[in-house]
Amino acid sequence: MTTRITITRPDDWHLHVRDGAMLKASLPFTARVFGRAILMPNLVPPVLTAADGAAYRQRAMAVLPTDTKFTPLITCYLTDDTDPDDVERGFREGIFTAVKLYPANATTNSAAGVADYAKIERVLARMEKIGMLLLIHCEEVDPTVDVFDREAVFIDRRLIPMAKKFPGLKIVFEHISSKIGIDYVRSAAPQIGASVTPYHMQLNRTDWLGWGNRPYMYCMPVIKTEQDRIAIRQAATSGEACFFLGTDSAPHPVARKLGVIGSAGLFNSPVCMETYAQIFDEDDKLENLEKFASLNGPKHYGLPPNSDTITLEKTSWTAPEEVLFDGPEERALIYRGGEKIPWKVVSA
Ligand code: DOR
Ligand code: ZN
Repeated sequence: MTTRITITRPDDWHLHVRDGAMLKASLPFTARVFGRAILMPNLVPPVLTAADGAAYRQRAMAVLPTDTKFTPLITCYLTDDTDPDDVERGFREGIFTAVKLYPANATTNSAAGVADYAKIERVLARMEKIGMLLLIHCEEVDPTVDVFDREAVFIDRRLIPMAKKFPGLKIVFEHISSKIGIDYVRSAAPQIGASVTPYHMQLNRTDWLGWGNRPYMYCMPVIKTEQDRIAIRQAATSGEACFFLGTDSAPHPVARKLGVIGSAGLFNSPVCMETYAQIFDEDDKLENLEKFASLNGPKHYGLPPNSDTITLEKTSWTAPEEVLFDGPEERALIYRGGEKIPWKVVSA
């Protein structure tokens, strides 16, 4: 039985750390373990331009110790009006790593996202030309489409035509949530790869809704069926190159999570690496953890893996319940808070 594992330092290819007090409270959890993280641009206001991106990177670095080895990777929030020249400038100057496509109104702070797909073609053509990645929230937001089918419909209606029209455009299918998605990504790799959250591998919709409504399991794309969960878990733990780590850790103030219209998102960065290790261990696939967490992502992004390591041990600990920010009234509850976690990062 393996009780200790050392792997190349992992990266988080999908992370929300917000801004201000929440950035300060949440980013250190990630910087402690990961070498790099893709920071999502759905702030208020969003990261729309290269100048916004440079300013956000500075705000992120400012909450970390000056000798940190962690690198935040900044993304551009795509709108119908995004200027291809500004995107290219941001990319060439090393400010933007990628562009994020939110369909308008798909999730938290996505109102300014893409409404008219014809209008973004100029940006996609430029990205294809310069070798810049497109990260997609793959959900079709159409009131006639059932919320559980949004991912499948997006694949047919948007993703397949887009991947065909721009065959040189490298894409990340973010937080993959369905078996249909998994099968599609396998067929479209290596042009398309997928980030996988810990919670889409652990939860099904009966966990979420079957024993009382559990708002702390509510995210977008929503948690789906047991068959979907199994397909996602098998794909991620297989070590296949097109699947890699992306936590989608997304803190919200507790009042918003529990509001009449609750916010989507699970704050998992304080427990994420330990949870991935637990999942791979449960499925007897620890030998593939390094590929999933540390090698497949950089390969898809065309970046080198990190050069140092982290060590995890099978040592049980109790996850903290919450994180406070800006005083005791403001807090975000942590995914698996209060639970005993069997794996622990012991050196990073
Ligand atoms: O559940 C989610 N929360 N899904 C997203 O796509 C966005 C995220 C957030 O920003 O809270
Ligand atoms: Zn996200």
